[in-house]
Amino acid sequence: MKNILSCVQPTGDLHIGNYFGAVQNWTRLQEAYNCFFGVVDYHSMTMPYKPEQLRENTWKMVFYLLACGVKPETMFVQSLVPEHVELSWILGCVTSYGELNRMTQFKDKADQLKESDKEAFVSTGLFVYPVLQAADILIYHAHYVPVGKDQEQHLELSRTIAQRFNFQFGKEYFTPPEPLFTETPKILSLADPSKKMSKSLGEKHYVNLFGEEERVRKQVKSAVTDTGDTPAGQLSPGVANLFEILRACGQVDAYNALMTDHHAGALRYSDLKECVADALAALTTAFRERLHTLNADKRAVKAQVQDNSAAIRKRAQQTLREVREITGLLPMKG
Ligand code: TRP
Repeated sequence: MKNILSCVQPTGDLHIGNYFGAVQNWTRLQEAYNCFFGVVDYHSMTMPYKPEQLRENTWKMVFYLLACGVKPETMFVQSLVPEHVELSWILGCVTSYGELNRMTQFKDKADQLKESDKEAFVSTGLFVYPVLQAADILIYHAHYVPVGKDQEQHLELSRTIAQRFNFQFGKEYFTPPEPLFTETPKILSLADPSKKMSKSLGEKHYVNLFGEEERVRKQVKSAVTDTGDTPAGQLSPGVANLFEILRACGQVDAYNALMTDHHAGALRYSDLKECVADALAALTTAFRERLHTLNADKRAVKAQVQDNSAAIRKRAQQTLREVREITGLLPMKG
């Protein structure tokens, strides 16, 4: 069976864009592949953060993923498998400075920091972030990595690193991973449908997957529909986005009926919004209930995640034993 790995940073919130765009796909893939899904807390240290917040957000993301139906045995927390960092050091030694310097995400994030403060501190961690990501992937010999297009460059670098390692040490050891760009619904911001739904845009832009029904309904009600510059007969981005959400929620009949209205020039946005609000309210209520059940037994769930991470760690340790041998480091005792 082929291995699949993907990871998410503990951002503190999971919105419907994350769910339909990534996590829902994970829950499908786990039925057919040998999966590893990580919450990458080391990566979140590359931008300014508060320690208490990081710990809280890491647990939160773990609980969110479980509530979404990610199988506990596939899940690990990155820092509970510190071998990721050890491998990252070794891989850093087969990665050139120039390669890292070409990473557009580094440039974007460094610019973002400098915009907020001219004297901003841009860490080496942010610079070597893609090497750690390569280590996440290669340590479990992942064949496929489901990611969004924004991660394409990092994935390509992971392939380069795997190939360079194999070449330099004269052994086909690492499998160059392939990205898996599954077609998933792309959900846009409700308040500004010219942008992808994202937490960083601000509260009114995203719908929390565990949001309270009333708030979710309000957000849909105030979603931007027409901006006035859409040619007759076409869907404006905001309206198309509402349709997309409806379909993502599995409301095929409502979707078709409203689309027929649209083609007849008789679509009422209030009808569309009501359907979307109902669908999202049902979705978030179901997720909130699952989260509630997990939260009722917090300690046991946390212990289980630590145990599962420890089990997954064994595989990472096996890789490191082999890598140490290949690269000329001493074997560890025991
Ligand atoms: N960089 C990814 C993101 O921001 C997160 C990530 C870290 C990742 N390690 C990974 C994704 C390994 C896929 C595989 O979304």
